[in-house]
Amino acid sequence: MPHVIVLDQLSPQGLELLAADPRIEFDVRTGLAGDELREALTHYDGALCRSGVKITADVLEGNQRLKAIVRAGVGTDNIDGQAATRQGIVVMNTPAGNTVSTAEHAIALMLALSRNVAPAYQSLLEGRWDRKKFTGAQLAGKTLGIVGLGRIGQAVAARAIAFQMRVLGYDPYLARQRAAELGIELIDSVDAMLPEVDYLTVHTPLSEQTRGLIGKKELEIIKPGARLINCARGGIYDEEALAAGLKSGVLAGVALDVYPVEPCTKSPLFGMPGVLCTPHLGASTDEAQTQVAVEGVNLLIDFLTTGNIRHAVNVSPLDAQTLENLSGYLDVAYRLGLLMAQLDTAPAKACRMQYRGDIADKDTTLLSASFACGLLEHALDIKPNIVNASLLLNERGIELVENKQKGKGPFASVIRAELQTADGYNQATGTLFGHNMPRLVQLGENQLEAFLDGILMVFFHRDIPGIIGAVGSIFGRHKINIAQMAVGRAARGAEAVGVLNLDDIPSEEAMAEVHNHPAIHHAVIIQLPAAGQLPAWLQRRT
Ligand code: NAD
Ligand code: MLT
Repeated sequence: MPHVIVLDQLSPQGLELLAADPRIEFDVRTGLAGDELREALTHYDGALCRSGVKITADVLEGNQRLKAIVRAGVGTDNIDGQAATRQGIVVMNTPAGNTVSTAEHAIALMLALSRNVAPAYQSLLEGRWDRKKFTGAQLAGKTLGIVGLGRIGQAVAARAIAFQMRVLGYDPYLARQRAAELGIELIDSVDAMLPEVDYLTVHTPLSEQTRGLIGKKELEIIKPGARLINCARGGIYDEEALAAGLKSGVLAGVALDVYPVEPCTKSPLFGMPGVLCTPHLGASTDEAQTQVAVEGVNLLIDFLTTGNIRHAVNVSPLDAQTLENLSGYLDVAYRLGLLMAQLDTAPAKACRMQYRGDIADKDTTLLSASFACGLLEHALDIKPNIVNASLLLNERGIELVENKQKGKGPFASVIRAELQTADGYNQATGTLFGHNMPRLVQLGENQLEAFLDGILMVFFHRDIPGIIGAVGSIFGRHKINIAQMAVGRAARGAEAVGVLNLDDIPSEEAMAEVHNHPAIHHAVIIQLPAAGQLPAWLQRRT
């Protein structure tokens, strides 16, 4: 039964869902870090977190069990995505559950800044009735600039428009037409927007492009008296520059919900007039926390029990039905990878996958990933799966290209894998008989029909009479039973190949006798999974 660990505080509704599901077990272990976290994660199949726990590369290193991490929330910056991908761990998030709450928080900060809500209340607490000092500004008729027009940016725009604000937006990934439908004037750059804005709010991830997006240089062109809000990620604004901007009067106010380092107890802005800060409360509403927890739990349970991958940030979405429908050919591709890796053990340089027939219409990237899993299976400490296979190939500089041919050949569908190694070039073609019987139908130029399971001896020889008998009597003398046999050749009397399925691995002496046969150039033992045995990542979970 899959075991789940909850690493941060999760809303009670999320925990109730976990408790009510008989298909999983779970533990709540919050506050873990470093070695303790690393050790804990080795005992679980899935993890649920918010932004508190830091899941670093060190913490994931060597983990052979964890299959998925679900972030109840949007930002996955507390999880090392690259390290998770490398370990074959799916990282998912709940992108929409806290959109409205965060947009409302940005609007709340804008209003509170404009009407001096926090300092006015503080002055009352201090026994003063100071109406003049706290004269504010109204939002209606003012211009709001929004950088990042995704879910939250758009929700903020809708609310600002309801407040009768003019909304300018910058987002390189939003079409002008869509922006216009939303009532947003799309601007070509942040710099072009700055001289016009009374308020600026950012709703992008923190990235190389957005780090320090607003700093000293930008404050030189911003409209004097502007108010800045950040409910996205700390680091998008340069806090030192904002403090200087407030001091010089260029900025009338700054409201922050997020900080470069969190928890944050020290900032050049804390205590300055015109500053309003909250401790990362954008998504902290009962509604948002319930939604992200429930959605996160459902995502994780669904993945662990059926294989469905939704809202993953490091792998394409994959539904259990697609996996199920493709499982026969995924198995063929995987076995071809295992075969090629053992046929020629010289370092692989490049692979070319060709899909012909009906299979060419399917998601062939999954099939290529499955081939890569087989190819790398015995080469690495890390267990390859369809999440990490492409990355692992890439890291080794092994190029994989795909080619699709719609027209059918002798089979409804075939997968042809070509592998270039430091020593040469091999190709093998496989197909599926029925739903789950992988077959090898071509090796090099030789056509044949061999079972792709169990222990195989593949031997290349001259096409002369007596070879099969000679090999059969060697194995007979060494008490190795031959379960199946296939031979293939391109033409009569040319080079040929034989594939024997054996019940046991032949001894070195038996193999030496095979190698000594004058017509056999090369013989190799290949070990494949037994018939019907699928790799762990392809096994049905329910
Ligand atoms: P989203 O993915 O829906 O939107 C992000 C948008 O930013 C996208 O439209 C993207 O095109 C745009 N973008 C990316 N790079 C850009 C750039 N260089 N310039 C301009 N636009 C760029 O994400 P979302 O759900 O709207 O969340 C936005 C941010 O808010 C995230 O960083 C998220 O972590 C943060 N967030 C904070 C809280 C909180 O509690 N304060 C809550 C939820 C989300
Ligand atoms: C998020 O990215 O979802 C928010 O920052 C909210 C949170 O961390 O809880």
